Amino acid sequence: MTRRIAELLRAGQPDETVTIQGWVRTKREQKGFSFIEVNDGSSMAGLQVVINQDVSDYEASLKRISTGASVEVSGVLVPSPGKGQRIELKADSVKVYGEADPETYPLQKKRHSFEFLREIGHLRSRTNTLGAVFRVRNACATAIHQFFQERGFLWVHTPVITASDCEGAGEMFAVTSLNLKQPPLNDQKEIDYSQDFFGKPAYLTVSGQLEAEIMAMAFSNVYTFGPTFRAENSNTSRHLAEFWMVEPEMAFCDLDGDMDLAEAFLKYIFSYVMEHCPEDMEFFNKLIDQSVLSTAENIINNQFERITYTKAIELLEKADKKFEYPVEWGLDLQSEHERYLAEDLFKKPTIVTDYPAEIKAFYMRLSDDGKTVRAMDILAPKIGEIIGGSQREERLDVLERRIVQQGLDPATYWWYLDLRRYGTVPHAGFGLGFERLVQFMTGMANIRDVIPFPRTPQNVEF
Ligand code: 4AD
Ligand code: MG
Repeated sequence: MTRRIAELLRAGQPDETVTIQGWVRTKREQKGFSFIEVNDGSSMAGLQVVINQDVSDYEASLKRISTGASVEVSGVLVPSPGKGQRIELKADSVKVYGEADPETYPLQKKRHSFEFLREIGHLRSRTNTLGAVFRVRNACATAIHQFFQERGFLWVHTPVITASDCEGAGEMFAVTSLNLKQPPLNDQKEIDYSQDFFGKPAYLTVSGQLEAEIMAMAFSNVYTFGPTFRAENSNTSRHLAEFWMVEPEMAFCDLDGDMDLAEAFLKYIFSYVMEHCPEDMEFFNKLIDQSVLSTAENIINNQFERITYTKAIELLEKADKKFEYPVEWGLDLQSEHERYLAEDLFKKPTIVTDYPAEIKAFYMRLSDDGKTVRAMDILAPKIGEIIGGSQREERLDVLERRIVQQGLDPATYWWYLDLRRYGTVPHAGFGLGFERLVQFMTGMANIRDVIPFPRTPQNVEF
């Protein structure tokens, strides 16, 4: 049976006979023998393999082996005399599956810029950094499910295609049905792009929240975790057109309960990743951002800051920093303001609550002051908003008014209003931008480098 390299590096014993499969990172030829480092994606480090010239087909195999080639090696583990590794593999046989022509293979052993790696998105997962990112991303996703499952939340699957605009921001991609073969593709003029979803308008969802609310009204505590889409044409290091969102929704819960859950949730994910991906986290701390480990410690051990929007505006007005965008009660916080609060002022995640109703979505619960809603955003140092959530408006009459006030059509939301007619309860939830979490965790500067196939205004190829 083929063994995973991560497991061998951790627990492999001298004299064990093993077979590994993977891709060659480096090759060093000496007189009479060669070293290759093989990586199978299971860990940052590869396994060093020593191939003696008495291995059958030594010369022929070695010629075919270069950085990027795929191989299978069988042999015996031996203690390694080299520095930095406990064991190495003494090869008995080497099989080369596929060569990688050194003249053209773009990932030769050296540091490449992330811009360059984005141009070769089909190969970049074989690099140390992207390898570490996608292992941490996997650990984050596992932690998310574990956190909610331990607490009795039901994982519900909400649709990708929908007719309702959850955020009411009008930033949706429309769904059309086309027969790409008839008329032929090369005669684009004849394609009718106005066809919609079997005669009805339909869009790619911006959030699973409204459907999650439906499910929470039956199962009490639920969460969704899936892709969401925004047609905002933002070319920033924190926006994608397609991103993954985690959205818990809790019945019989208010904003305080919502904030407590969100804080416990982030602490849990950071602890899980520190425990399960220590080497990858060390790597980020060393090579990407020297505050990765201290940030994780800070998240796990310290309480988040909690302030109201009104207080945040006061603090921003007093700040000795010049902002590009104006600060004024009633205006939304821009990323520079969010970062000032979390990064410069409090130096930890900061939960801002009670935003003006006018700048927030229709479903947020209106407070008694008639001006603010029971909203909360969690702002992270270096990232800005990472979580957006709220207590929901559970009163039918108030909700109807808010829908109309925001220029939306109550008829589209008839089923959402029905939930307030039949057995309505106070409830709350939030959405965590999964890629922003992975950025926060790893210190990666650009959101395009924490998702395998980023969808941005420039990028839709594969
Ligand atoms: O604040 P948002 O728009 O909230 C919602 O969609 C609510 N319906 C969530 C809920 O209460 N269930 O988005 C939630 C989070 C943001 O805080 C941000 O982290 C992330 O989603 N996000 C994006 N991430 C990447 N690219 C984009 N274009 C994003 N837009 C939002
Ligand atoms: Mg938001």
